[in-house]
Amino acid sequence: MAFYVTTPIYYINSTPHIGNAYTTIAADVLARHHRQRGEETFFLTGTDEHASKVARVAEEEGLEPKVFADRMVKHWQELPRRLNASHDFFIRTTDEGHKQFVQEFLQRIYENGDIYAGTYAGLYCVGCEAFKTEAELVDGRCPEHGIEPEWIEEKNYFFRLSAYQERLLELYDQRSDFVLPTFRANEARSFIAGGLEDFSVSRAGQPWGVPIPWDESQVTYVWVDALINYVSALAYARDGEDLRDRFWRDVRHLIGKDILRFHCVFWPALLLAAGYDVPRQLFVHGFLLLDERKISKSVGNTIDPLDLIDVYGVDPVRFYVLRAVSFGQDGNASIDGLHERYERELGNDLGNLLSRTTAMIARYRDGRLPSATDVSPWAIDAFRNEVASHLDAFDLTGALETIWQLVRKLNQHVETSAPWQLAKDEARRSELDRVLYDLADGLCSIAIALAPYLPETALRILAALGQPAEDLAWERIRPGTAVETEGIEPAQPLFPRIEPTTAAA
Ligand code: MSP
Repeated sequence: MAFYVTTPIYYINSTPHIGNAYTTIAADVLARHHRQRGEETFFLTGTDEHASKVARVAEEEGLEPKVFADRMVKHWQELPRRLNASHDFFIRTTDEGHKQFVQEFLQRIYENGDIYAGTYAGLYCVGCEAFKTEAELVDGRCPEHGIEPEWIEEKNYFFRLSAYQERLLELYDQRSDFVLPTFRANEARSFIAGGLEDFSVSRAGQPWGVPIPWDESQVTYVWVDALINYVSALAYARDGEDLRDRFWRDVRHLIGKDILRFHCVFWPALLLAAGYDVPRQLFVHGFLLLDERKISKSVGNTIDPLDLIDVYGVDPVRFYVLRAVSFGQDGNASIDGLHERYERELGNDLGNLLSRTTAMIARYRDGRLPSATDVSPWAIDAFRNEVASHLDAFDLTGALETIWQLVRKLNQHVETSAPWQLAKDEARRSELDRVLYDLADGLCSIAIALAPYLPETALRILAALGQPAEDLAWERIRPGTAVETEGIEPAQPLFPRIEPTTAAA
């Protein structure tokens, strides 16, 4: 079994904000989880560089677009690095390998007769990098970007999308989980059922982009160039190796709801036209909002994820965005919210559980964890299956909640079993052994289940309990997974207190 997960490729004209970090974090959780399950996994992210806004901003700054792109891409390469993303390849649409692939891909469609020359006249929003109809505008402006679109009239090449309507409808009818959540599939399906118009796949007289192979006076429309990244990367990411056979069939695209049509309608049609399988699945997530408004550069309410990581560390930021907003829905995010969950859930629930468990093992048993027992009070097998099935359904928030229920159960167990009482009574020695073992064992399973979300913290938990940390295999989540060990010391706090003033700064 293979698992191939992608993020959208990001526009490089500005720097990343927390909304962009969101998809990368989610994709990383899935990639790490599927590796734990022993599946052959490939995780792709990268940048979308041929937007006309890039050429414009570069010109304003007196730079060649590629020089500007090389400068800006550094921010976008830093993002996954700082997020601790485990991507296997970072694609840039300016890579030679990508450009060549785009040309071959379009040539195939052209030869199949689904690309033809025509004239385009219409309103173009540079913010969306898309043509708009009058009906989509509010007071003559793009509602998303607040700018007036420009009138463009030019010779273009068109893709015969209209010819794919029936095949797309069949696809949606046959594969109920092609697009998730289901309400998004319905949205895409009704767009298709409403009738599809051919769309322009090239732009005239622009120097910045991938030239159309049979007519170099035109460049590929940025969205077509961009979508193709998901296949092109497999063809050249590894020297001398074509990964398409291994991974293409199992691709899962994670996208935000604003780019649903391009991905759920145009992309499968382009793939069919070029002779490829359609994607295995697409998951459409919602927006992170701040005061009910989308966090975005055009609204001007962005939060820099790197600033948050500087103050809180990377794991809390990864945790927060997936915990606070149900993955798939829109939801509010804020620095206060992050601070609150950092203290209450990470510091108190998880951090204190580890501190108390290790401190009691150190104090009452001289740091010794007795030998394993496979009778666990935690219903661990059911827990493992429940977390996995949430993740299989892209319910990243539900999986995290299942894990948190177990964290809470362990905390309650500390209270109800009161090890400090048991320790006073020599006759209850084995009872105390049992409680300490169950806590350590439960924490081990929690650490492994949390590893995709909190990769650094998971290793610290395992290390504090003297457990092997190099193997995070999913099957290690089972009753009696903790091995006998010595030398456990009271753990350092996993999430030390952070003054709200530092956070505000
Ligand atoms: N370049 C295109 C994608 C091409 S993919 C073949 C693009 N880039 S983008 O940089 O504008 O957006 C990338 C992703 O960030 C999108 O999935 C978008 O939904 C997501 N987000 C941007 N702001 C967001 C929030 N406030 N919340 C959650 N995700 C949002 O579109």
